[in-house]
Amino acid sequence: MLLTYISMICYLTERLITSYSDADIVNLTCCQQNKALEHARLPMSHVTLTDYEDNNQQSFWEQCLFPVAKPVKIRLSRKLSGKTILLTGASFGIGALVATLLAEYQVKLILVARTREKLEELQQSLQGKRATVFIVPSDLREERAIDSLLQELKRRNVEVDLFINNAGKSIHRGLDQSLDRYQDTQRCSATNYTGPVQLLLGLLPVLIKNRGHIINVSALNVLLPSTSGWSAYQSSKAAFDQWLRCMEPELKIRNVTVSSVYLPLVRTRMSMVNEKNHGRMAMSKAKAANIILNCIVLGKRKYRPWWTGFVLLWCSLFPNLWYRMQVCYLKKNK
Ligand SMILES: NC(=O)c1ccc[n+]([C@@H]2O[C@H](COP(=O)([O-])OP(=O)(O)OC[C@H]3O[C@@H](n4cnc5c(N)ncnc54)[C@H](OP(=O)(O)O)[C@@H]3O)[C@@H](O)[C@H]2O)c1
Repeated sequence: MLLTYISMICYLTERLITSYSDADIVNLTCCQQNKALEHARLPMSHVTLTDYEDNNQQSFWEQCLFPVAKPVKIRLSRKLSGKTILLTGASFGIGALVATLLAEYQVKLILVARTREKLEELQQSLQGKRATVFIVPSDLREERAIDSLLQELKRRNVEVDLFINNAGKSIHRGLDQSLDRYQDTQRCSATNYTGPVQLLLGLLPVLIKNRGHIINVSALNVLLPSTSGWSAYQSSKAAFDQWLRCMEPELKIRNVTVSSVYLPLVRTRMSMVNEKNHGRMAMSKAKAANIILNCIVLGKRKYRPWWTGFVLLWCSLFPNLWYRMQVCYLKKNK
């Protein structure tokens, strides 16, 4: 128990210290990411973002904090056989890996993201696998793009059984840098909240008919006390989480399963474009993908790291501590 508290305090303190950075965590192209990393003065010039992102090695503490079982292939195969899966955010990171793993099964995969070339590359690399792969380049921030995606599905008679809401945009910016950037909130809201709502509302009639499954890839921050600098990201992720959880009982009685996956920091371009995250404890992309596959097999309502309850208990025992730590830190570093 004492050990758990100590590791939690270390984790939260580390989060506080490293969460304040000038780096803007936005979705960048690979070339821009590498430039950003160069700019961030990486310790070794030959190290690229992909090296961090693809590093599936987990330290002893990471193994303890993020233990994840591999899904049982036979059960997954039975569950997925003949199903149609719509996965957003499939061009990079967790989504691209989930798509690759799902392609081993007899499924119809519909992959959505903005970067056409990345989707085409992925589709090509999956040729010869058991899945039939379709790509639909779309920007989830645009109502018209979502409408045409839904119409395209209708036109092709595609009936989705499993919807994985994985696309996401993350921005970290302090107050001074946010004053003239209302667009940060608009973009995060559209990608993380209103876009997924519009898409899901269009998919729901079919998901209900097929007794389908919705998996929402959310962030652990949504469950924890707010952290300054993350207002646009945290509020938009929390908004969709709330929206879905309000819908969940009504979906349950219509035999639709809802799983919410609350991920901690994961090594992907989203987090690793920020140099300060390189040395931090983080989950590997492979583990995050396995959590999503486990949700498919088990239909679990929720994934959150095992120690989340201890952190929440700690926060309710000392309700103002996290807030005060942040204020102290900000005053000191003003
Ligand atoms: N990495 C972490 O530390 C972490 C922690 C907690 C939760 N998460 C969540 O995990 C999910 C996956 O993130 P990741 O870490 O794999 O990040 P990532 O590597 O940056 O991937 C994000 C994906 O979302 C897509 N996307 C972004 N904006 C979009 C838009 N407007 N329309 C359509 N697709 C869009 C991106 O593709 P295009 O750029 O090609 O559109 C990309 O495929 C996100 O929901 C994120 O919030 C991540």
